[in-house]
Amino acid sequence: MLKVNQNFVKLPASYLFVDIKNKVNAFTEQNPDMEIIRLGIGDVTRPLPKAVVKAMCDAAEEMGEAETFRGYGPEAGYAFLRDAIAKHDFQARGVDISADEIFVSDGAKSDTGSIGDIFGIDNVVAVCDPVYPVYVDTNAMAGRAGDYEEGRGWNKIVYMPCKEENNFLPELPAQPVDMIYLCFPNNPSGVGITKAELKIWVDYALANQSIILYDAAYEAFITEPEMPHSIYEVEGAKKCAIEFRSFSKTAGFTGTRCAFSVIPKELVYDGVSLNQLWDRRQSTKMNGVSYVVQRGAEAVYSEEGQKEVRANIAYYLNNAKIIREGLQKAGFTVYGGVNSPYVWLKTPAGMTSWEFFDLLLQKAGIVGTPGSGFGAGGEGFFRLTSFNTKENTEKAVQKIVEAFS
Ligand code: MLT
Repeated sequence: MLKVNQNFVKLPASYLFVDIKNKVNAFTEQNPDMEIIRLGIGDVTRPLPKAVVKAMCDAAEEMGEAETFRGYGPEAGYAFLRDAIAKHDFQARGVDISADEIFVSDGAKSDTGSIGDIFGIDNVVAVCDPVYPVYVDTNAMAGRAGDYEEGRGWNKIVYMPCKEENNFLPELPAQPVDMIYLCFPNNPSGVGITKAELKIWVDYALANQSIILYDAAYEAFITEPEMPHSIYEVEGAKKCAIEFRSFSKTAGFTGTRCAFSVIPKELVYDGVSLNQLWDRRQSTKMNGVSYVVQRGAEAVYSEEGQKEVRANIAYYLNNAKIIREGLQKAGFTVYGGVNSPYVWLKTPAGMTSWEFFDLLLQKAGIVGTPGSGFGAGGEGFFRLTSFNTKENTEKAVQKIVEAFS
């Protein structure tokens, strides 16, 4: 008789953003006339840059002609895109990453969720608390997380509390850990990390032969010069870190899908190259990202593309400022939103995160993300995104202020 994977059975019933979607759908069915403004899931609203659309249309034309048609592409991505990434995202910043250390994929969610395939099941996983749920749930699916205890989390995962008093930065774990997931600028808290602070983690990983799985999906939102855009700006990181990047939030690709992972050749553990292992995994499990999409991603690096992308990021950062300043003025305690599209606020009057979610939806029609959905450490906090339009962001702030004053 067929057996299902019991690791999946142990998972909480559904993924955080699906829970929220279901709750909001039920609410709108009961309140069809209420205007809803969504500042929940980090999904962009600005259209793709014109330079990207043009490149994708041209590529689609090529696919329609026998002379320029292409079938399967290279699993790790076309050279034109890997070269452009290496040159603009790394070499231009003085970071020595080459094209064959870059693996193009359909998303940082897929990559951070699949990277565990190349690591042994007995490794100890450390995550921040609160945390992007993908790191935890995918390790649970793999059987690396142990058992789930309501309110406490998984008993084999090492949770690193990120508290207000530490500006939401984790402290080094007290016990030895092997796989360390870090995300900066952070999802959900929106805080950044300085090079000096990140060096502590690189030194730890080098000393303990651990690996840092560094999610830099929000690097394009960095505004402060002391925040590194890549972990490889820290000396030694090429020997102990994998970096994940995405075109989703940077260039509006949440629906188009394109991202990449950086796996330096210096990453050798157990005498095995991680670059080769990931290449083996990817070439077995995927056939790459479509040619049309990769041409679109390449155009992000063109002069026109860069201009448009920067304007979009500035637009979202301005929304973040509107949220931050509007709520601060109304007496809320607010973090993030300076190097990040996420604003992290303390729920008023000691409300739980879900109580605040319900109240905000009922009183103001605003959808956010409850901090406790990112782990026990997020309880009492709430995340708002700056990815809606400026008009909706202003309206949402006004409604929140009215509802809670
Ligand atoms: C979020 O809202 O945390 C992100 O949109 C999730 C994601 O990128 O998968």
